[in-house]
Amino acid sequence: MRIRIDEKIVDIKAVWLKDSERGVIRMIDQRYLPWKLRYYDSDSVEKTFYAIKNFVVRGAPTIGGTAALGAYQAILEASHRPNKFKSVFKERIEFLKKARPTAYNLFHALDTIYSYVMDLVESGEALSSIIRLTRERALEYIEKEILDKNRKIGEYGEKILEDGSKVLTHCNAGALAAVDIGTATAPIYYAHEKGKKIIVYVDETRPWLQGARLTAWELHQQGIETYVISDNAAGYLMWLGEIDVVIVGADRIAVNGDTANKIGTYKLALAAHDNGVPFYVAAPTTTIDPTLSSGREIPIEERSEDEIHFVYGELNTGELSVVRITPKGVRARNPVFDVTPSYLITGFITELGIIKPSEIRRVVSQG
Ligand code: MRU
Repeated sequence: MRIRIDEKIVDIKAVWLKDSERGVIRMIDQRYLPWKLRYYDSDSVEKTFYAIKNFVVRGAPTIGGTAALGAYQAILEASHRPNKFKSVFKERIEFLKKARPTAYNLFHALDTIYSYVMDLVESGEALSSIIRLTRERALEYIEKEILDKNRKIGEYGEKILEDGSKVLTHCNAGALAAVDIGTATAPIYYAHEKGKKIIVYVDETRPWLQGARLTAWELHQQGIETYVISDNAAGYLMWLGEIDVVIVGADRIAVNGDTANKIGTYKLALAAHDNGVPFYVAAPTTTIDPTLSSGREIPIEERSEDEIHFVYGELNTGELSVVRITPKGVRARNPVFDVTPSYLITGFITELGIIKPSEIRRVVSQG
């Protein structure tokens, strides 16, 4: 992602390994965007867990990429206790899995690195080479399982966009959410690079405002014409005929094609269906959970009600501040994902091409 820092254009990712020997992970701290560009450094599994749980980083593929690097930190921590290497490593991996429940990429990344390490251990590899190889595997995971897939999603998805297309998106399924490039934004960026004019409507995405804060920031930085809309405006704009296509990301896809994504996605899909607007989910196949037959089985995270009661933002003075928007004493509910039934989904833009919901089962069976 190219962003402007102090009048310079810098190419930056949402997360990377800053110090490979010490296992220091650097992340763009998404809690401060779009107001301030700050970084969060983690040199331990504990801090990486904190970062994923508390939205320093977020978005399914970025969570997966951060977790892959966290698994490398787990190896370093386990290596300090060689007699208990296997049990410490397993305990650290299981701990990271508890950071957030819905995004399948977290589990995919941790299971991938875990079984890779177990194979190395079984084959009698020396500790020093297990450390080196795990680091290489974690970096390769980000490159192959995330970035390469995002690029493919961009290549396939670009074809559904025409010069002048008006796209609606929800939450942030952009570079910040997918290490770089994004999933839902990848077709937009590829179309933009090909010289197509793309206009993007961004749902603000209450309560955490990932759309208003992050997607709008990202798209604006890339020079794409962007309009933030209230979540409630989406149906009306579709009814007016002002939206050509909806593209969203995904946190977990069941085998029948039911898809968990940011709360509000289901209502958006209903409005798209009612208005004949194509509704696409852009996601890598690493978001498909092969163990779940339907969306009813997807664990949905419910976060603190404070995210509903309080809004965070920048005052005219430039200071960051928190304000309460609900009456004191009133309770709130805060499920942060919902499930869109597969019949509302036109297609999945994946690294394998654009596939129908009914084809997810085939993708899973082909491994
Ligand atoms: O709670 P978040 O911000 O992690 O939720 C993110 C989303 O719902 C995204 O749409 C999804 O992870 C896809 S990211 C490419």
